[in-house]
Amino acid sequence: MSHIVLIIDDSPTAVPELRSLLESEGYEVLTALRAEEALDTLRSAKVDLIITEALLPGMDGFDLVRHLKANERWAIIPIIMLTVRSAPEDYAASYDAGADEYFIKPLEPPKIIAATRGLILRYEKMRVTGDISSGRPSRGLPGPVSVRGERGKIIGVFSLKGGVGTTTLAVNLAVAIKMLEPSARVGLVDLSLEQGIDALLLDIVPTSTIADWAREDLTDATPYLLNQYFVPHRTGISLMSAPSSPEQAEIVRPDVVRRTLELAPDAFDYIILDTASTFSESTLIALEMAGHILLPVTPDMAALKTAVNTLRILKAVNISDDKTTMILNELVPRAGLTRQQVETSIGKNCMSVPHAGAGFIEASNTGMPLVTVEPAPAAAKAILDIARTLCEPEELVAAGEQKLGRAGILNRLRRAQ
Ligand SMILES: Nc1ncnc2c1ncn2[C@@H]1O[C@H](COP(=O)(O)OP(=O)(O)O)[C@@H](O)[C@H]1O
Ligand SMILES: [Mg+2]
Repeated sequence: MSHIVLIIDDSPTAVPELRSLLESEGYEVLTALRAEEALDTLRSAKVDLIITEALLPGMDGFDLVRHLKANERWAIIPIIMLTVRSAPEDYAASYDAGADEYFIKPLEPPKIIAATRGLILRYEKMRVTGDISSGRPSRGLPGPVSVRGERGKIIGVFSLKGGVGTTTLAVNLAVAIKMLEPSARVGLVDLSLEQGIDALLLDIVPTSTIADWAREDLTDATPYLLNQYFVPHRTGISLMSAPSSPEQAEIVRPDVVRRTLELAPDAFDYIILDTASTFSESTLIALEMAGHILLPVTPDMAALKTAVNTLRILKAVNISDDKTTMILNELVPRAGLTRQQVETSIGKNCMSVPHAGAGFIEASNTGMPLVTVEPAPAAAKAILDIARTLCEPEELVAAGEQKLGRAGILNRLRRAQ
């Protein structure tokens, strides 16, 4: 049986040339114009080697390689990058992503054929012996085992009131944790099932979403399988996207959320949940299973009232107050209540994120969250500080633990209920 090579390239000249070269050497050839199409092919066909261009429409070749190497099902398939991109940093990006060979176009037949033969032989040997790591001693298999050898932490971000910065905080926090602990595996789950925008903010074209994951048979699902539904981002974090349309949200039943969060701590060191602004059963499961909950609140009476109600409901469902931290998010500059007023009203200390002007929006237009901007704007620094408290267990959100006397505005809120 001949070996199958998958070519991913949208060049009308390069593909026929490479195809006829490989076919003349006895290989069977499949082609895809885009990374997304290649993933579909890989789901249904047994491919022995991949040759991909780096420049692709939609998900680029580097992201594709990273995605494949992070997925157990495809991680050992050898990958050659054959590309028009010739800058030294492209070589580095290619090998960092996990490609096995890197060639610059135009095509040099003897090189490609030698690499194809050698890599397929090595792949066959690895499959027979099951010894995956021997083939790639320097890179290894990016498996789902936590780097610290313990189960990962689940951090929920929640607000019953929409538009207060829940998503902004969740996305930036995930990236901030990755920046503080570069070796940690950080997964972001968009549980805003009906209107999730995390993929949009990160400029990720999701190859799969939580709705696809929900269609799996989850009784026997493993952390490895879960991992395949996360799409890698340039910052090194991975995202499980919300369903691509609101109608699909109902596929993601509460038991799917529970199963996801049972498996996720064996696949990631940190799992950040961007939750929906409702006390649905799925949200409650997420908040129950989270080890820490960040509650963004804006400095205005409406948001405070909702925050007080939220704390009351969390208490009623036995979610410990110790694991919640209020985040005062100054959505509007120099407006509304002071931090002290907010803290007194809620009876809890807050950590705060200052107003960022259009900073968050501008950053999201580039697909790189504000925390990655240099030099770090004040709002980015504040989120890095919050991330630090979550990365360092001994200092765990000390700010959230000290109770304050409830007075002033709280009384007004109580009277208003
Ligand atoms: N500290 C801040 N400064 C300026 N704009 C902010 C800040 N926090 C959030 N925003 C903006 O507020 C809007 C709503 O934020 P988002 O995170 O989508 O809220 P939610 O998820 O709670 O609905 C977004 O446009 C975001 O960029
Ligand atoms: Mg949101």
